[in-house]
Amino acid sequence: MSLSSCFRRSARLKKILEFDENGPRSCAQSGYLAFEHGEWSQSVSLHHGEVVFAGSSRSAAGSSRSGTPKTWRYHGGMRGMEAARDRLAVALDVPDLAGASDLIAALGGASGWLKVGLELYTAAGPAAVEMAGRDARVFLDLKLHDIPNTVASAVSVATRSGASLLTLHAQGGRAMLRAARDAAADAAAAAGVEQPILVAITVLTSLTVSDLGDVGVAVDATDIQVQRLAELAVESGVDGVVASPVEAAALRQVLGPEACLVTPGIRTSGDPADDQERVATPRAAIAAGADLLVVGRPVRHAPDPGKAARRIVDEIGLALG
Ligand code: C5P
Repeated sequence: MSLSSCFRRSARLKKILEFDENGPRSCAQSGYLAFEHGEWSQSVSLHHGEVVFAGSSRSAAGSSRSGTPKTWRYHGGMRGMEAARDRLAVALDVPDLAGASDLIAALGGASGWLKVGLELYTAAGPAAVEMAGRDARVFLDLKLHDIPNTVASAVSVATRSGASLLTLHAQGGRAMLRAARDAAADAAAAAGVEQPILVAITVLTSLTVSDLGDVGVAVDATDIQVQRLAELAVESGVDGVVASPVEAAALRQVLGPEACLVTPGIRTSGDPADDQERVATPRAAIAAGADLLVVGRPVRHAPDPGKAARRIVDEIGLALG
């Protein structure tokens, strides 16, 4: 049985990918997918629903393509997301669904991601994820932090609701991070949906060295604690971290090329910094190794949010070359 026949036989993967005789043909999502079956793995890069690359490989230990698939692992990731639009997440920091609907309409599909944060999720819950998911991939920014079992349950629900990226606090510790990772994989497999990317918050950008001292963390610089928590998160199976663009280059060095770096604090030249202390332009953030740029007020408060988002996407495109 060929590898693509194996894929075709998987009911769960059939929901994600369409096949012809040459293998995966198109997909409902953009991004990078990797599937493993026994000794075989297949990578698929997708751009606006079209497969732009599909390759398979067999590990050195593997000797045969035949056999009935028993277990499949599916990874969603940031690699292959070369389209500039797929590198921008616009924050839907609004108090209700009506405001979210207006902002989404004004954006006109300019960004590949929409971020649902605490404000909108507290007001509207999964309906906000569902609404945002009609136009873009959903970044659900709830910054989860609780006992492992509770976080795992919340991750399962968020995965089933269609969120493609979830945030959680690295300070929740190794067991909580691992429980979240396992819950995301299991819930995605059971529901036949994309496995969400998990990214960890290290030290909130609002905290100073003195604030860390108040909670018993004695460090000379916040960067030390940022790095320690980033390493803990990635070691525990989390895909990456949220970091200021100013920290991104150092974290890329420490975490390596596979880690997903998400950077808020993005301002084009001329934008006010608002309450963000450490800001950078889209071009500088990409150059520092950021994968996904989060932008709120510079887009939301612009007279034409769609135009403002497209300007950022253009700058990202130039930086990507
Ligand atoms: O309006 P602004 O562009 O500053 O919005 C940034 C978005 O990113 C907000 O939704 C904020 O909650 C989020 N964020 C942040 N800093 C972090 C983590 C998330 O600004 N460290």
